[in-house]
Amino acid sequence: MQLSFKEIVDEIVANHHSLLRKELPKISELLDVLSTDCLERESFCEAQQIYIKVRTKIEAHLKDEETLLFPTGVALESGAPLPPCDLNLRERLEEMEKEHDGCGNALTTISGMIATLPQSEHREQVIDKIKFVQEDLRVHVEKENTLVHPLFLKLFGARV
Ligand SMILES: [Fe+2]
Ligand SMILES: [Fe+2]
Repeated sequence: MQLSFKEIVDEIVANHHSLLRKELPKISELLDVLSTDCLERESFCEAQQIYIKVRTKIEAHLKDEETLLFPTGVALESGAPLPPCDLNLRERLEEMEKEHDGCGNALTTISGMIATLPQSEHREQVIDKIKFVQEDLRVHVEKENTLVHPLFLKLFGARV
């Protein structure tokens, strides 16, 4: 049975977006704990700065999906009036696919930088948590790139 756009995005929000909302702040907390172990280490500070940017980017991405892209697709599918939107959704969707790759790659970079720090329990906690988030992100992004985006473009292209 083919799932509707609404069923696909509801599952993504319930499982994958909620996981990110729970786990991204935990990575920030773990990095803060780790920062007390490795003061003045340049690569740590750089990794932490990159993480702050990636987290902000992911949070804005989730918000655009939940408030604009997904509700527009759901409305197109059901024939309901479209929610107000001042973004070019086709362009934003292309940008989102780049962000999918960019955020995954940035997390790999951060993990690699953290791995150069001296071995410690806190270091391992950060690396494990990033790996856990990346594994879910891979499944999440695959669903959006291969199911949500093509279906959205089909619905969006067919609108009158
Ligand atoms: Fe998403
Ligand atoms: Fe996405």
